[in-house]
Parts: sequence; structure tokens; C-alpha cells
Amino acid sequence: MQLSNSLICRNLNFSRMFFLVNCLKRLKSSQQWLSRQNADPYVEKAKIYNYRCRSAFKLLEMNEKAKILFPGQTVIDLGACPGSWTQVAVQKTNADGADSSKPKGTVLAIDKLQIFPIEGATIMSNMDFSTIDAHDKVIQALNGMKVDLVLSDMAPSATGVRELDKDRIIGLCYMAIRFAALVTRIDGNLLFKVWDGKEVPILEMDLGRFYKSIKIMKPKASRSDSSEKFILARGFRGIQRPLENGRWG
Ligand SMILES: C[S@@+](CC[C@H](N)C(=O)[O-])C[C@H]1O[C@@H](n2cnc3c(N)ncnc32)[C@H](O)[C@@H]1O
Repeated sequence: MQLSNSLICRNLNFSRMFFLVNCLKRLKSSQQWLSRQNADPYVEKAKIYNYRCRSAFKLLEMNEKAKILFPGQTVIDLGACPGSWTQVAVQKTNADGADSSKPKGTVLAIDKLQIFPIEGATIMSNMDFSTIDAHDKVIQALNGMKVDLVLSDMAPSATGVRELDKDRIIGLCYMAIRFAALVTRIDGNLLFKVWDGKEVPILEMDLGRFYKSIKIMKPKASRSDSSEKFILARGFRGIQRPLENGRWG
């Protein structure tokens, strides 16, 4: 009995210590995050330009280089919360009709979290895009309209297990590719985020079957210590679908 009591005490002390060490680790990483945020010029710039987060500058920079956003386009933004890419997409496609001399675009923003309203965008919150059911709902919302550009900045919340996290983002990438193949117009484009690794060349190869050109981008606004990269697939070739007579077309 005495032995088991001392064992319980030792276990309790051990779990308290474990808890304390974990708290200290979290405190340290929050402090590191805070000082990095304070030193980051893009965080300041996002406040000045009224963007919901610094990611806006990644899309602005990639658009500056690749010229993928134009007035009048239909754009789908996957993993859109808090909404800075959607804000950029609305501005560039004129989805809010701010410039009456240019065609008005359409922007659909989707996330599994709650996105607060953005003027000019249609918001689909609380939608987990890793399910085919979600794809069907968005296709229904499009009501036959074809899409010029699919954006995906989707990223899973990190578990800390590198290989597992990578597998999860690759899963999301293939979900974005599958969805884009169903809704994109011929010659439309797809831009999505990936974490660098041995899977990227395989993704490039798979995309090569459906798109005319593939380019890897790392905008300056993407932190240099982050393994995130963006793949831009241009010129969708279309997919073969089964026809009513049993043939493929
Ligand atoms: C880096 S944030 C996107 C930031 C956004 N581009 C912006 O500029 O505001 C990644 C987003 O992906 C979303 N996400 C991750 N997995 C998802 C899933 N399965 N379905 C929908 N959204 C998902 C997360 O909820 C998160 O909001």
C-alpha cells in the first residue's frame, strides 16, 4: 500500500512537471511569435491597407508577376479565412462593382471556419473542403457557371508531426486539384499552396496532364523560414467526361 502511494505521488509530480514544461514552451513560442509579428513589415502594411492579414501581399506579389486576376473574372478562394486573399480577389476582379467602367466579377470564399462578410464576395463558412459533399455544394452554388481561377491557401492546423502535417496538406492539394478540374473553364488557372518536399515534383507531374504550364512561386511576403510554396498551373486543358452513349468526350 505504501509503495503504491509513493508511486501515485511520483506520478503526480511527474505530470505537474510535464504540464509546467509544456506551459513554458508555449509561453516561449507565443513570445517568439509576438516579436516576429512586431518586426514584420507586412503585418504593419496589412493594417495600413486594411487587409485582414499579411497573406494579402503574397497574392498581390504573385499576381503582379503572373497576371492572373482581372476585372470580370469568376474566382473561387479555398481556405479563405480570415479573408485577405478574398479582399484582393474582390478588388482585382471588381466583384464589388467599385469601378463602374469595368466588368463586375464574382468571388466565392470558402473555409471550414467562420469568415466575416466581405463586400462583393459570397461567403461559404463552416465548410470542410476535404469532403466531396462540400465540392458538390459549391458546384451547385455555381449553377453551371465556369471558373476562371481557383485559389487555395488551405493549410491544415499543424500537429507538430512533420510527416503527418505534410500528408494532410498534400491531401488538401489533391482536393483543390480535383475540384478545379470540375469547375474551371478551358484555359483557366489554379494557384495553390504546398509545403516543399518530395511530393512537389509528383504534384507537378500530375498537374502537367491537365494544365499547359506549371510554375513554382515563393513570394517575398512568404517567410523565408517557412517551407510554403505556391504552385501556379495555367491553361486548363479540360477533362474527359463520360458521354450518354458510353463514350468519353
Ligand atoms: C493560411 S489560412 C488562409 C489565409 C487566407 N488566404 C487569407 O489571406 O486570409 C489557411 C486556411 O485554410 C483553412 N482550411 C484548412 N483546412 C481546410 C478544409 N479542410 N476546408 C476548408 N478550409 C480549410 C483554415 O481554416 C485556414 O483558415
